[in-house]
Amino acid sequence: MLHIWGRTPLQGHVEISGAKNSALALMAGALLSSETCRLRNVPNLVDITRMGKVLSALGIKLKQDGDLLEIDASHISHSTAPYQLVSQLRASFFVIGPLLARLGVARVPLPGGCAIGARPVDLHVRGLQAMGADVQFEHGVVMAYARKLQGARIYLDCPSVGATETLMMAATLAEGETIIENAAQEPEIVDLANFCQAMGAQIQGAGTSTITVVGVSQLHGTDYSIIPDRIEAGTFLIAGAITRSEISLSPVVPDHLTAVISKLQAIGVEVISDTPNQLRVVPGQTYRGTDIETYFYPGFPTDMQPMFMSLLTLSEGSSVITETIFEKRLQHVQEFKRMGADIRIKGNHAFINGVPMLSGAPVVATDLRAAAGLVVAALAAEGKSTIQGLQYLDRGYEKLERKLQGLGARLERVPLDTPEVQPVPPSVSV
Ligand code: EPZ
Repeated sequence: MLHIWGRTPLQGHVEISGAKNSALALMAGALLSSETCRLRNVPNLVDITRMGKVLSALGIKLKQDGDLLEIDASHISHSTAPYQLVSQLRASFFVIGPLLARLGVARVPLPGGCAIGARPVDLHVRGLQAMGADVQFEHGVVMAYARKLQGARIYLDCPSVGATETLMMAATLAEGETIIENAAQEPEIVDLANFCQAMGAQIQGAGTSTITVVGVSQLHGTDYSIIPDRIEAGTFLIAGAITRSEISLSPVVPDHLTAVISKLQAIGVEVISDTPNQLRVVPGQTYRGTDIETYFYPGFPTDMQPMFMSLLTLSEGSSVITETIFEKRLQHVQEFKRMGADIRIKGNHAFINGVPMLSGAPVVATDLRAAAGLVVAALAAEGKSTIQGLQYLDRGYEKLERKLQGLGARLERVPLDTPEVQPVPPSVSV
C-alpha cells in the first residue's frame, strides 16, 4: 500500500530507466542466437524477473549484474513455456517465434486476458501459419511446429506490437524473404530490429508500416543497450505538470514522446529539450481541457491515457478521452471519481469536466498504468491518499517511490495489513 500526501511541489532531476516493453521483447529475441547476448540498461522490474523465469524454464542461462543481463541460449532444453509463468506475464508469449525459428517446435500457453482487455494472439498465430507453421490448440496451449519457417508476405489486420515482434523475430531465421505489412511502428519495434541486426539479422523498414526481413542461417551474440522508457518519462512529465513543478528528466528520446509533448502543450504545459537526451517540464498558469484519442504509434499512446486523465480532471473546461486500443482501459475512472473528479463514461469515451481540486482518498489500482495514473493524481490531491494494487505498479516502474521522494514528494510504502492509525481525538481541555 502506498500513502501519498498531496500538493507537495517537486523539484530536481529524475533518472529514467530502460524501456520495459523493449527489454521484454529483446529477452525473447536473445533466444534466436546460440551465442551469448548482453543486454544493458535493463530495468529492475517484476515483469523482467518473470520473463527471466520463463527463459530459465526453457533451459536458458541468465546472469544479472545491476542493469546488465547476460543471456546464454546455447542450449534450449525445453520447448514448452510453463503455464503458471506465462499466465503471470503475457509478454512471455513472445518466445513462440524464436523457439519455432530455433527448434522447429514451440508449446506456449495461450496468455489470458487481463484487466484492460481480451488481448488475443490470433495475429501472431496467423502470421506463423503464413510462414508454414502447423499450429494446433490443445488444452489452452498453442502447439506450433515447422521444420523450417518460410518467408511470406503477411498483412496484419491491426498494427499489433506483439504480433509484429513475434513475426519479425521468426522471420530472421526463416527461408527467404518476409514482408510484414501494416506493421506496428513503436520505438520498441525499432529497438528490437536494431538488436536483431546487431546479431546479424537482415531487417529493413522497422519503424515504418512495412518491414522486410531476409532470413539468414544463424545469428551471433551481441552486446546491446536498451532505449529509455518513454512511458516512464511521460509519467514523470505528468507528475511535474500536475504538481505545477519544474523538474527535469533524462535519459529520454524526445522523438519517442512527440504525441505526449504535443498534448501537454495543448493543455498549457511547456516541455523544454535542454539537451538531446534531457527534457524539462515547465507548468503553465492554467491548464485547458483538450481531447485525446489513443491510437497506434505515432498516435497518442494508450499507455499514457490514465496519467493524462488525472491531469485533465484538473484542467479547466471539458475534455473527452477516447480509448481505441483496449476495450476495458477505463476502469480507473471510478477511482478518480472517488478523489472528486467529474468524469462520465459512455462506451469507450470518458467525458471529463475539470474541477479545481482533487481530494486524497483510499483507491485501488486495477492495472499497471491505472496505478501510475492514481499516483500522479494523489500527488496533486488535497490531503492523504492510500493506493492499493502496488503489485501492478512494481511490474512497470523501477524504484518509483525512491524516484518521487528524490524529487521531494511525500509518500511511503507500508505493508498492506498496516492498521490505519486513527487520529487521536483532541484532548478535552479542562
Ligand atoms: C504492447 O502490448 C505493450 N506491451 C502494451 O503495454 C501496450 O499497451 C500495447 O503494446 C499497445 O501499445 C508490451 O510490449 C509487453 P498490441 P501488446 O498487440 O503487444 C489487438 C504496458 O502497460 N490484437 O499492440 O499485447 C489487441 O487486442 C502494456 O506496458 C489482436 O486483435 O498490444 C489490441 O486491441 C499494456 N490480435 C491491439 O491489437 C493479436 O493477435 C493492440 O494490441 C494481437 C493484438
